[in-house]
Amino acid sequence: MNSQAVELALGTLHESLGSPVSESMNFLNEVAQRYPDAISFAAGRPYEGFFDLDDIHRHLETYRRYLTERLGGDEAAVSRTVMQYGRTKGIIHELIARHLEVDEGITADPESIVVTVGCQEALYLTLRALRRRDTDVLLSVVPAYVGMHGAAQLVDMPVLPVEETPEGIDLDHLVAVVERAKADGLTPRACYVVPDFANPSGVRLSLEARRRLLELAAEHDFLILEDNPYGLLGDPDGPPTIKSLDDAARVVYLGSFAKTGIPGARVGYVLADQRVAGGHGGPETLADQLAKIKSMVTVNTSPIAQAVIAGKLLENGCSLRAANTREIETYRSNLRQVLDGLERRFGGEKAPGVSWNTPSGGFFVLLTVPFAADDALLESSAQLHRVLWTPLHHFYADPEPRRVIRLSFSHLRPQEIEEGLDRLAAFVLGRSDG
Ligand SMILES: Cc1ncc(COP(=O)(O)O)c(C=O)c1O
Repeated sequence: MNSQAVELALGTLHESLGSPVSESMNFLNEVAQRYPDAISFAAGRPYEGFFDLDDIHRHLETYRRYLTERLGGDEAAVSRTVMQYGRTKGIIHELIARHLEVDEGITADPESIVVTVGCQEALYLTLRALRRRDTDVLLSVVPAYVGMHGAAQLVDMPVLPVEETPEGIDLDHLVAVVERAKADGLTPRACYVVPDFANPSGVRLSLEARRRLLELAAEHDFLILEDNPYGLLGDPDGPPTIKSLDDAARVVYLGSFAKTGIPGARVGYVLADQRVAGGHGGPETLADQLAKIKSMVTVNTSPIAQAVIAGKLLENGCSLRAANTREIETYRSNLRQVLDGLERRFGGEKAPGVSWNTPSGGFFVLLTVPFAADDALLESSAQLHRVLWTPLHHFYADPEPRRVIRLSFSHLRPQEIEEGLDRLAAFVLGRSDG
């Protein structure tokens, strides 16, 4: 390269770029690309076996018919709605509100919904809005979804870690963290939780814990950011969403159509019905503020992608649980197969120091191993055994290796799970002996 070519020092760019979090996704993708014949328990992706490109055309057509009827047959208006720049808060908010009512028991004002580019953008917009002063902080169970750490770093918002028990967020520890933060002059603005089949732990919070979390949020005056991409992928008689128990607008609800809609559409949303005082233009909600930020980040979510998701909703009476009956059965059966397979390979006295949790749904299981599982070990697992998994330190936002790995089984076929577990057992038992 030309010796005069510009070189920028990483230290002069935003601080988040030097953090291990910003490397996580790249590193994991890059390992997967280098070992294409490896079986991956790493990727938390939806099952592809039912993907059919023809669905996209049908969904679009379904939405087109719906819109034509709503717009009194005005074809030009229909085309404009789907093909032109669109409303910042999105065009399918009413259908999302219906879906929330049908599947989640949440009564939502469609005007309080912002349709986003995946749940990830919803998370970013929310944290961006909540972080005003240097003293504003976020509470979160750690280990937690990498994208939460990443979004918090992008808006320079420190995350105060709260411990997790096998039953989910440790509420006593939460209170201790909040009290300590306040004593230190910090303001916990919100607590981030994935109450249903958390990423990475797979844990589901009890109804009692959900109620208690709401009480604590009121008592200590912070919001709850309820992130729920996996909730529909489990027992329909499970506990209700925290948002459905919330009668005081304590909860900002973050939704994703990546696991239950179509991941490639990149559509998610945020329900933010908190009133915001002090604006110039009359009463507004937090959703209106998030839309202002969105207008400067992605302008609006692709109406074409929204139309596809809308068609899928319309074809299923706005129930994504109904739309995913085959997928839900696949995930349940994969989960059973992984848990049985772990028992057969590591159960009893076969593997001292190896244990695992037993989630009742979702995409993930945590496996504890008798050695620190870091990125170098993942590399050797890929190279020598052709099996991938996720080292848990990626969910802590620091490079300190832990003796735990995340296994994701959502996208695998039964024979891949069986073969993958054999390879994993060879890797783990080989290390344990050594
Ligand atoms: C807990 C959690 N929240 C949010 C997301 C991101 O969702 P989306 O793909 O809609 O941006 C994920 C994706 O893996 C996740 O696990």
